[in-house]
Amino acid sequence: MRATKPNRGDVAVLGIETSCDETAAAVVRGGGTVLSNVVATQEQLHEEYGGVVPEIASRAHLERIHPVVRRALEVAGAGPDEIDAVAVGHRPGLIGSLLVGVAAAKALAWAWSKPIIGVDHIIAHLHAASLDSLHPPEFPAIGLVVSGGHTSLFAMRSPLEVECIGRTIDDAVGEAYDKAAMILGLGYPGGPRVDARAQRGDERAIDLPVSRLDPHSLDFSFSGLKTALLYAVRGTPTGRGRGAAFERDASDLGEAQIDDLCASFQRAAVAALILKLERAIEQRREDQGENVRAIIIGGGVSANTRLRFEAQALADRRGLTLHLPALTYCLDNAAMIAGFACLRLQAGQVDDLTLSASPAGMY
Ligand code: KG4
Ligand code: ZN
Repeated sequence: MRATKPNRGDVAVLGIETSCDETAAAVVRGGGTVLSNVVATQEQLHEEYGGVVPEIASRAHLERIHPVVRRALEVAGAGPDEIDAVAVGHRPGLIGSLLVGVAAAKALAWAWSKPIIGVDHIIAHLHAASLDSLHPPEFPAIGLVVSGGHTSLFAMRSPLEVECIGRTIDDAVGEAYDKAAMILGLGYPGGPRVDARAQRGDERAIDLPVSRLDPHSLDFSFSGLKTALLYAVRGTPTGRGRGAAFERDASDLGEAQIDDLCASFQRAAVAALILKLERAIEQRREDQGENVRAIIIGGGVSANTRLRFEAQALADRRGLTLHLPALTYCLDNAAMIAGFACLRLQAGQVDDLTLSASPAGMY
């Protein structure tokens, strides 16, 4: 251990992230100052399979983890003396992938005699908006994580005190985007492609359903929207289940029709997110007497053009501040892991070398 204690506001943490298909490492100081942020994406390795193949992902993490960590330290100009703790995203995710990051973090923490901090990937997404930001959110806040595996709402008293108040009952919104892209023949990863095509389309061309669930629910559902899009593209099936036969498929559609379907899908998907955000803000006031001051959004889908626009409109309507990650921090990265870990280190919340990886999420 270091002889001198770091200045509490100035701790520097090396973060590692390997939960899915990005191998990432970053050094962050004081929770928000990103000194380096290295991401090696595996997108091309998985593209031909239309989704992430777990075995390919863990092998690729093994090959990349050393160079990625070394590069993050080099860019930050940091060695063991400058690092106060090693953090790692240790849940949820693909277990074989998580294990690579956790083993690397443990090895470094042990070799350098530094504390290790396990970070929940979903909660880290909520911290991404605070990276390189001059305006930290005020609390209480409502947090929304929208990613490929999660769509969850949080009541946040502080960055470290969060309570999950809603989640998807079926597909995550990013997953729905990826499936929509498959249905429309746009390939993987789907979200950015559907978003780009939606810019050119007519959002009212097809009336796709906005899921509301019951009037008080803060949960989400995206499987109905996905099925409605499937039927809009292929027509109503004859027969059921695997025997179902469709009238047509995406190859029968013109480019303008695909643009319209993307725009209509995006309108319905984002409307469902905004509806629940607004409902959560109202419920906190009515049920808890809590005046929410900020909206914080994170996760891959927070890169979405329409969501960013609509969330700003909601914040303006309600007189709240909106905190969105810079585009580089929307997708999986290790800066959010390191940044959140700085706050935990300052609060004395550290783990030890018994830290384990867990595929299951808490939120
Ligand atoms: O947070 P993330 O990088 O990984 C997970 O933790 O899942 O999120 C990836 C998800 C994918 O489903 C991807 O299609 C979606 O984020 N995504 C988007 C956009 N960019 C990425 N979805 C909608 N619009 C986008 N611009
Ligand atoms: Zn993520």
